[in-house]
Amino acid sequence: MAAQETQRVALVTGAGRGIGRATALALAREGYSLCLAARSFDEMEETRRLSGLAPARSLIVLIDLADEDGPRMLFDAALEHFGRIDVLVNNAGGAPPRTPLIKTGAPAQDRILAVNLRAPIALTRLAAARMVKAGGGAIVNIASAAARNAAAGEAVYAAAKAGLAAFSRAAFAELRSSGVKLAVISPGLVDTALIPHNKHLDRALMLSAEDVAEAVMAVLRAPARVCPVEIVLEPQRNPERAR
Ligand SMILES: NC(=O)c1ccc[n+]([C@@H]2O[C@H](COP(=O)([O-])OP(=O)(O)OC[C@H]3O[C@@H](n4cnc5c(N)ncnc54)[C@H](OP(=O)(O)O)[C@@H]3O)[C@@H](O)[C@H]2O)c1
Repeated sequence: MAAQETQRVALVTGAGRGIGRATALALAREGYSLCLAARSFDEMEETRRLSGLAPARSLIVLIDLADEDGPRMLFDAALEHFGRIDVLVNNAGGAPPRTPLIKTGAPAQDRILAVNLRAPIALTRLAAARMVKAGGGAIVNIASAAARNAAAGEAVYAAAKAGLAAFSRAAFAELRSSGVKLAVISPGLVDTALIPHNKHLDRALMLSAEDVAEAVMAVLRAPARVCPVEIVLEPQRNPERAR
């Protein structure tokens, strides 16, 4: 139990696939114990298997973060199991297939805002309170380049991600002197299941989930006197990668 108490703990939402899985695995390689959260148990079980962590060091929480009580229930479950949270990665998110604004109903609108904005704000609030008391920690929010360059049919998603970026910068201003890092990462297109296959999209030119995970790890590795508050990640065209 003593060893467990000194282990650093990371809570990663949307840890069943894509960016969340890649980030969880990168954290496990750095020695973190993991709290994995999403709605699909089998995908998280696979993330856990790939991490090589025993169940005592890798809690799976089945949760729908669109539910109002979801963030609180998740946070309480993680704290009850581990007794501490050193890193929070608010990654769960996404949107249904592109839908024109005038055809988007109120329930769909609320759901997009709940998952991509309300839940990360709530989890940041809960984790920050705990981390400030503990004298350190890190919170990384995954927004999107869509906040600035959204395509038609993504207006609500873009608003949620722009809100998350604005929230993160403002919350950092409050946390600056606490020792708690708070960063927002805004990736361009990432080759994950979120992006439907489409002959007009060359997936070889997208970021990989591991690229985003590496940016999360760069925030954690930054010196104590530095916080990379906002990171925009765009794929770089590499002639050697081009087909
Ligand atoms: N792929 C891109 O091009 C791209 C670009 C910029 C930003 N992003 C952002 O990066 C983050 C990860 O995206 P990704 O590309 O890795 O997508 P993904 O492969 O679809 O993974 C999304 C993860 O979030 C979980 N999730 C979704 N809705 C949830 C809910 N209501 N409650 C709990 N968990 C939920 C999913 O699990 P369940 O479905 O099992 O719940 C899954 O584990 C998202 O916030 C996305 O907006 C993606």
